[in-house]
Amino acid sequence: MELKYLSFIVIFSLLAASASAATFGGRKALAPSPAAAADLGFTHLDIKDPKVIQLANFAIDEFNKAQSTNIAFSSLSEAIQIGKNFELAIAAVDNKDSNEYFFNVSVDKGVKKVTSFVKGG
Ligand SMILES: *[C@@H]1O[C@H](CO)[C@@H](O)[C@H](O)[C@H]1NC(C)=O
Repeated sequence: MELKYLSFIVIFSLLAASASAATFGGRKALAPSPAAAADLGFTHLDIKDPKVIQLANFAIDEFNKAQSTNIAFSSLSEAIQIGKNFELAIAAVDNKDSNEYFFNVSVDKGVKKVTSFVKGG
């Protein structure tokens, strides 16, 4: 789990090509510019897009079902699309604790599936 989490961070570090700062994983990190991301086969999605937020809520619902938890979606901090795979960094609240969760969600022919997740700090 720890290695997966690290590789997720490494990807973002590698993509840190623009000067605009965004909060990621509880840290201030450089957000990749959409253009730089597209060059590497990544598409940076608009975290305000209702469709992207809907996907994040789906991920949280699936997490709750799988973990028998009741965390609540709070906000989306990153959303990246790589083909059919969507990598989401989501802040969610568990009771009063806010945590960051990282998800991989695949969307194939309209079928959404959480393929992996990691709970951050
Ligand atoms: C999502 O998938 C990517 C590519 O396989 C992987 O590097 C990353 O660790 C995964 N993230 C999670 C939260 O499992």
